[in-house]
Amino acid sequence: MTSLAEFLTRADTIARDGTALIRAAHSRDMLDAARVALLGRKQGQLTSLMALLTGLPNDDRRSAGAAINATKLTLEITLTEAEDALGPPIDVSRPGDLTMPGRDAWKGALHPVSAVIDEISGIFRELGFTIALGPEAETEWYNFGALNFPPDHPAMEAHDTLYLTDDTLLRTHTSPVQVRTLQSYTPPIRVLCPGNVYRRDFFDATHAPSFMQLEGLCIDEGVSFVDLKATLSEFARRFYSDSSRVRLRPSFFPFVEPGAEMDVEVDLGDGKGPRWVEILGCGMVHPNVLEAAGIDSEKYSGWAFGMGPARIAMSRHKLPDIRLLYDSDVRFLEQFAR
Ligand code: PHE
Repeated sequence: MTSLAEFLTRADTIARDGTALIRAAHSRDMLDAARVALLGRKQGQLTSLMALLTGLPNDDRRSAGAAINATKLTLEITLTEAEDALGPPIDVSRPGDLTMPGRDAWKGALHPVSAVIDEISGIFRELGFTIALGPEAETEWYNFGALNFPPDHPAMEAHDTLYLTDDTLLRTHTSPVQVRTLQSYTPPIRVLCPGNVYRRDFFDATHAPSFMQLEGLCIDEGVSFVDLKATLSEFARRFYSDSSRVRLRPSFFPFVEPGAEMDVEVDLGDGKGPRWVEILGCGMVHPNVLEAAGIDSEKYSGWAFGMGPARIAMSRHKLPDIRLLYDSDVRFLEQFAR
């Protein structure tokens, strides 16, 4: 036989401990387990307490019943609050509303310099060029010697070039890929060589110590300067606009003869109107370069060019400072994401 006082104390304990149990539940499964433990019809704590009602004197049953109801109400309210706090249940048996608009996911995008390289590669691919790659750590011979640099050329000095050992270095341009390609393939050769190059330059608005270059090489029998100019003009028309004008200015690189720099007329959108912007260096591959790579320079000739896709991205997107392209600031980069 239980006394009323005992009964009420137990009802109180169930209400207090049960409330704590429910509040500690942080998942739907834990809440369900708490509900069964407290209010379950067979084994629940309240059911067990209710079973004791019959053992009470008749006069006490009314107050005992009221205590049971109060405890039950407290637990139910606490359960409902806890359920609301967990949010609506996920109904896995239904597929959901298939007419809802999809949620946008940030997939990432190409960097403007990569996009320029892809676009230029696409134009040259249609002109019959394939991609060739070479190592970024080069020997002095590939980077300079085979490219007809005289042994005392200033570019070879340690203040311009990042040397790894006495005769290995970080390539200062992509032109060594010309030599590697000429050694590995017999003409006709038409390749485009994108890649990173390194120079001992300070970072400023127009220079970076490491940057991408895009080299082009075309070698066959009877290739002349006319082919160089026609191909590069066609490229400029395709990349910039149909009416783009280009001009070639004589220039010097040890590995070409004659050598030139090509400008294209572009409007940078700064209100100053169209103007000539230098986009690449080019020329007829020097016979010494062909011979160094084991190609008969009496039989074959050709041309090459090297351009900086970052500079081209700057002219295309009207960017005032090359460092913007290296900052990896998504707020800047996502403007160009396609
Ligand atoms: N390699 C030269 C540079 O780094 C560019 C160039 C490439 C010039 C091919 C002529 C021919 O500036």
